[in-house]
Amino acid sequence: MTQLVMITGASAGLGEQLAYAFARRQMRLLLLGRDHQRLAKVARQAARLTTAPVAILATDLLNDNGRSAWRRCVARCGVPDILVNNAALPGFGAINDLSLAEAQKVLQLNTAVPLTLSQLFIQDHYWTRRPSYLINLASAGGELPLPYAAFHSASKAALLGFARGSRFELQVTQIHLMTVIPSLLATGHFQQQTAPYLKANSLIAQLLAHSQLDPAKVAKKIVTSALRGQQILRLPLAYQWLAAFNRLAPRISRKIIAQPYRTR
Ligand SMILES: NC(=O)c1ccc[n+]([C@@H]2O[C@H](COP(=O)([O-])OP(=O)(O)OC[C@H]3O[C@@H](n4cnc5c(N)ncnc54)[C@H](OP(=O)(O)O)[C@@H]3O)[C@@H](O)[C@H]2O)c1
Repeated sequence: MTQLVMITGASAGLGEQLAYAFARRQMRLLLLGRDHQRLAKVARQAARLTTAPVAILATDLLNDNGRSAWRRCVARCGVPDILVNNAALPGFGAINDLSLAEAQKVLQLNTAVPLTLSQLFIQDHYWTRRPSYLINLASAGGELPLPYAAFHSASKAALLGFARGSRFELQVTQIHLMTVIPSLLATGHFQQQTAPYLKANSLIAQLLAHSQLDPAKVAKKIVTSALRGQQILRLPLAYQWLAAFNRLAPRISRKIIAQPYRTR
């Protein structure tokens, strides 16, 4: 039987590219997002790349942290062999500027939803002997001291904690959990969320703007790495060094990272 992949946040950005990358592997797809029209468009494009069925489910995951979406997906297509927890809100902004409601939404969509779906996935696969793959999209912000990103960082750090805390239990199963930790992706967040907090004419800010990753390439790398059983995927290569440097010399790292940001 062809493997079934469920992708949250598949109507745009990296999730859309992941749909195409899995379609090229001839896997069955179940694409989730709120915007029915955009999902249908992605599904049509994915269907050109595969002979396997492509289904969509337009749903707001904030309704009940994804529980009813999971039930509907399983009832319609069966338990997915691969779950990609990709949907998220950027969550950038000064703590003082974000409303309580905005911050709550970030914590819910970026943390409660993927961890609820992760638990449901693990419970349904715990005793099965065929391999299954759980892919959680974290962020470099989950481990680096990024200014004006407290809720983003907190929401994504929880996924890193889940990976550490579940490793002991998952090692006796056939469930492979991979946590993806990308730096900037070229999906529009940099311009909308980060750029307003950066100093004008900062060289580092300009370098950042030019170092955004191509979501199609990232999607391809995620698929190959997950199916190989990799547990952590930091992207790009240069970010792996920065993350290591951050662990070794956190004070210096914090100063360098803060350099392009405006103080208020
Ligand atoms: N962009 C970056 O620089 C960056 C860096 C590091 C990590 N990441 C992570 O990579 C992943 C993808 O990022 P991206 O830039 O591709 O995001 P994006 O372009 O903003 O797409 C987010 C997706 O989530 C869906 N979504 C939003 N709210 C939802 C809700 N309430 N219920 C269901 N779906 C919802 C959106 O679809 P609808 O609008 O149709 O609901 C959309 O498909 C995220 O987990 C992000 O945190 C991104």
